[in-house]
Amino acid sequence: MGILPSFVVAVGLVHLVIVVSSDTSYARLSTNFYAHSCPHLLPTIRSVVQSAIEKEARMGASLLRLHFHDCFVNGCDASNLLDDTPSFQGEKNVKPNAGSLRGFEVIDQIKAVVEQICPGVVSCADILTIAARDSVSILGGPNWQVKLGRRDARTANVTDVNPNNLPPPNSTADHLISSFHNHGLSIKDLIALYGGHTIGKARCFHFRAHIYNDTDIDPGLRHSLQAICPSTKGIDDNITAPLDPRSPNSFDNAYFKGLGHKLGILHSDQELFNAKATNHLIRRYSTHLHAFRSDFAAAMIKMGHIKVLTGSSGEIRKNCRRANS
Ligand code: HEM
Ligand SMILES: *[C@@H]1O[C@H](CO)[C@@H](O)[C@H](O)[C@H]1NC(C)=O
Ligand SMILES: *[C@@H]1O[C@H](CO)[C@@H](O)[C@H](O)[C@H]1NC(C)=O
Ligand SMILES: *[C@@H]1O[C@H](CO)[C@@H](O)[C@H](O)[C@H]1NC(C)=O
Ligand SMILES: *[C@@H]1O[C@H](CO)[C@@H](O)[C@H](O)[C@H]1NC(C)=O
Repeated sequence: MGILPSFVVAVGLVHLVIVVSSDTSYARLSTNFYAHSCPHLLPTIRSVVQSAIEKEARMGASLLRLHFHDCFVNGCDASNLLDDTPSFQGEKNVKPNAGSLRGFEVIDQIKAVVEQICPGVVSCADILTIAARDSVSILGGPNWQVKLGRRDARTANVTDVNPNNLPPPNSTADHLISSFHNHGLSIKDLIALYGGHTIGKARCFHFRAHIYNDTDIDPGLRHSLQAICPSTKGIDDNITAPLDPRSPNSFDNAYFKGLGHKLGILHSDQELFNAKATNHLIRRYSTHLHAFRSDFAAAMIKMGHIKVLTGSSGEIRKNCRRANS
């Protein structure tokens, strides 16, 4: 009984701390962190992201997801960019990242250009944060100021890539809510951030169960997805389909509207529409674009502050794929 009110109060406080006063590690993040050490950082990153998206619109989605999968596993510390070595297993080759996370080459390109203009100064974790923001804004979504000063992890922990930190698409709404709660994010943050599925694609591997075994899917969509994604596991697992079938490259609220017409392609998409705790938020965002845009931006800022390394913790990696020796 006492749990719900105190949870609500706690979330309210966390929000205040981030937005108004800033505290502990947040205090060391600031919008002008690189103002002197790398004054042209932001336009430099944006132009690389812009050309990557011109080449392939989906890349914006991939960069957004890369930041999410970084922040939810031991904080926004670029740990998911580390390559495996014979003596080290990183995060990128384990489920659900393996064969699924994309955009590493674009991060390499950004890092290379940034190292040219200001060597040894800008972290990979900040690059990921900025590239995710730019991707959303270039594809027509909101723009917001990012606080910077994150540092990079020297290592990664493969066992932390697990369904508690990165919930699978067959999750229940309760599991998604508790996973986000454990990361300091509210139900509102969950639904706003989940609106990231307004861009990008999923693989047959992830939507197969929904199109063959669930009933809450539009029959026309089911038919067209079954035509490209056979029911047998292991066959055509990598065939992709847009998460927002109506406007896959536009950061709008068509994805939320589509859920009301059973156009979600993942089990979890429709699960959040079906669940009482989240349905009203989806309905609100599907009719209030502006509310979605501002709540998404606010939630991205919160997500981007999860367990950041600042000060003298971690390091500024020279190469985003490996720790400095
Ligand atoms: C916790 C709930 C979430 C679940 C269960 C989930 C699940 C998934 C799955 C299964 C895919 C397809 C991956 C593949 O088939 O290879 C995907 C893609 C994607 N997700 Fe999520 N996701 C969640 C939250 C988020 C959040 C919080 C964001 C961003 C703020 C996000 C952004 C994206 C984007 C942009 C894509 C497309 C990536 C691409 O095209 O490369 N997701 N998600
Ligand atoms: C899917 O792609 C990954 C690499 O991204 C590959 O390892 C795997 O074998 C592919 N699976 C199928 C069924 O083609
Ligand atoms: C990795 O994280 C798990 C908890 O998820 C912990 O039990 C384990 O000790 C960690 N391993 C290392 C090497 O830090
Ligand atoms: C989701 O699928 C995985 C296997 O892919 C399974 O281990 C897990 O139990 C499933 N979870 C739910 C909630 O159905
Ligand atoms: C559908 O559900 C049945 C029974 O649980 C299971 O055996 C089958 O593998 C599922 N099919 C897909 C495509 O997930």
